[in-house]
Amino acid sequence: MKILGIETSCDETGICLIETDSDFSNVKNLSTSSRQVKILGNQLYSQVAMHTQFGGVVPMMAKREHAKNLTPLLEKCLEEAGLIKSKVESLKSKVGEEKEEKIKEILFRENDLFEQLKNLAEKIERPDIDAIAVTNGPGLEPALWVGVVFAKALSEIWNIPVIPTNHMEGHVVVAQLQQHDESKVESYKVIKPEVEKTNIRYSTFNILPVSYPAIALLISGGHTQLVLIKDNLQYEIIGNTKDDAVGEAFDKVARLLGLPYPGGRLVSELAEKERNEFPNKIPPYPLPRPMIHSKDLDFSFSGIKTAVLYTIKKIQGLSQASSSDEARLSPEISASIKQEIACEFENAVVEVLISKTKKAIEQYGAQTLIIGGGVSANKKIRNDFEKESKNLGINFLVPEVKSSTDNAVMIAIAGLLNIQAGKQPEVDFKANGNLSL
Ligand code: KG4
Ligand code: ZN
Repeated sequence: MKILGIETSCDETGICLIETDSDFSNVKNLSTSSRQVKILGNQLYSQVAMHTQFGGVVPMMAKREHAKNLTPLLEKCLEEAGLIKSKVESLKSKVGEEKEEKIKEILFRENDLFEQLKNLAEKIERPDIDAIAVTNGPGLEPALWVGVVFAKALSEIWNIPVIPTNHMEGHVVVAQLQQHDESKVESYKVIKPEVEKTNIRYSTFNILPVSYPAIALLISGGHTQLVLIKDNLQYEIIGNTKDDAVGEAFDKVARLLGLPYPGGRLVSELAEKERNEFPNKIPPYPLPRPMIHSKDLDFSFSGIKTAVLYTIKKIQGLSQASSSDEARLSPEISASIKQEIACEFENAVVEVLISKTKKAIEQYGAQTLIIGGGVSANKKIRNDFEKESKNLGINFLVPEVKSSTDNAVMIAIAGLLNIQAGKQPEVDFKANGNLSL
């Protein structure tokens, strides 16, 4: 079975193609050799550089960029997978007049996208793909919308069913992927010489079984959630942020420290530098740990960000009052203070995340901890949660760093697991920015 994954929920355009012969509906009973998934093609285009100049993602620009890049990325992905076979014929004769009109209607606000897709469809044969998994939420609605209509148009052109897929579920299941030992050996093998002459790079992964109940901590730019997973694909949100998401707090603090968007990783790098240089230093600017002692499993991060703002203002005020004219004109805080603040901020966030996650694990008797979402790329979070899981004697699953942030592999995997669990394709679904697990 081959599944095409499409991801456009924010500022990454992702298209990927996976293949498997296995049935993962009961992954626990599968032998290691039959838990494999191959990534035949994987294309990711990041718009980050474009949004950086605006200090955050501009939804309509994100949508436009997705529309521009989806078709070229699809073509590259199919090429990478060796699934391009030339067959030149007009779209009308390939799909019929009625269908061509329908496809036009689906892409009625996206004329350029329609033309690009038409050109591709007119030069190649229908690729051998069994299903399309597309992110339909949560995320930025205009960005999601363009991915959804693209998937629907493809579905009409090539007669492939579409499975709407939850972005957050993608962040959960991608943690189950483990690079197969022989994957590196298999790289650059020609797997379909009769289709393509070029070498095909693919990697093989195992989908690891999960011992349930599991707790997933999902931390991204838009979400901070604790999720109880009672069994395969059965989710219940048991904790949520009351205001900012963790990634959002990282990005806002980055901005306060004069770092470019998205600054989460940069804040974390400053924090690590501070920790390495001064391992035993008492933080000179202590920050709060909001809701750490509350009985529920909810979070609040806007208070820490505000505390950082006040700390900086206070330092700037002091430097204005006490230092030279030069400092008065430019009350920039020094690099060493930025480092101290970044470190204390990261420590505060991680302490709160660990405390609440431990509470959830104990409360629900979890056997597995999964962390996912862009912030799970954070080194300290990965290390500290791994240590905690060891102490608690439970399994720990975290995605590879490069799969932590948004990508299409996670969507294809979520689509695959849902299809095999019996989820039916849909036609009339919409993009939903607030979709919940
Ligand atoms: O999941 P994701 O790629 O997109 C959303 O769905 O939001 O997450 C992006 C978020 C951004 O806020 C980014 O600053 C944060 O993940 N992030 C990090 C790190 N890498 C990415 N935050 C802290 N430390 C990192 N290393
Ligand atoms: Zn995400």
